[in-house]
Order: sequence, then C-alpha cells, then structure tokens
Amino acid sequence: MISEEHFKNLQKSAPKVADNIHEITERTFTLLLDAHPELKVLFKDVSREYPREFGSAVLALSSLIDRPDKLQLFAEKFKAMHPSVSPEAFGLMFEALLRAMKQVMGLKAPPKAINAWDAAITHFREHYL
Ligand code: HEM
Repeated sequence: MISEEHFKNLQKSAPKVADNIHEITERTFTLLLDAHPELKVLFKDVSREYPREFGSAVLALSSLIDRPDKLQLFAEKFKAMHPSVSPEAFGLMFEALLRAMKQVMGLKAPPKAINAWDAAITHFREHYL
C-alpha cells in the first residue's frame, strides 16, 4: 500500500483532479506525443471516446488504491486492453500525466499532491502490471 500520508493527500487531490480531468487528459496526450511521436501509431485505432475512458481510468485508479481486490480486477481489465503496450510506454504516459497535472492545475496541485499521485501510480505499476 502507499503511505498513510500519500493516501490522505491523494484523497484530497482526487476531486480537484476530477474537475480538471478533460484538460489534464488533453495535455497528457500533447506532452506524450510531442516528445514521443513514435508512439502515435499505438493510438491510431482508438475510438473517439478514448480520452474520456483514459480520464475515468485515472480517477478509478485513485479511488481503488486501498482496495487490493478491486485494484486486481481493474489491473486485469487494464492489461487485457493493452496487450501490446510495453512497460516503457506506460512509464512515458504516466510521466506525461503527472507533468500535465502540474501544468494544468498549478497551485491547486502542490508537490505533496503530485507526489501522492506518483506514489499511487508507482504502486499500481510495481504490484499489479
Ligand atoms: C503508451 C501507453 C498507452 C497506449 C499506447 C494505450 C493504447 C490503448 C489502446 C490501443 C486501447 C484499445 C483501443 C480502445 O479501446 O479504444 C486502449 C484502451 C484503454 N486504455 Fe490505454 N493506452 C496506454 C496507456 C493507458 C493508461 C496509462 C491508461 C489509464 C490510466 C489507459 C486507459 C485505457 C482505457 C480505460 C482503455 C479502454 C477504452 C475503452 O473501453 O474503450 N491507457 N489503450
């Protein structure tokens, strides 16, 4: 599990991130694909709903972080949806997500909030993916 401190900060931050999730998602894709145009091909067949699904998955991750059974189910579905995406590509996308949160939210996402998201994502990647 993530630390109590990170958990508290994540719960505090999640509703604010939810309020900004569309812009954060858009920025995530811009940051990722500007820096790594070679990844564009991996997204070429995604549906128009994809950005919305991505944003919901990010929020779901934060709400399930303290529920190993649910997180396990979430991870199984997540892996099934991404059979050919490498751990490196996930890493780049999550990195872009954290940068996007910082840029879009500014002072509404202080370092302790970003660190809490980072801890949650790291926990998910290390223990479930
Ligand atoms: C470089 C990393 C990634 C690539 C290349 C990628 C690509 C894809 C592709 C090709 C699909 C299937 C097409 C579709 O359903 O429209 C998909 C589905 C999905 N991805 Fe990703 N993905 C990546 C990372 C992520 C991350 C980090 C999240 C969220 C935390 C995420 C959330 C989802 C969700 C929720 C779906 C299901 C969409 C649906 O049901 O329509 N993906 N992804």
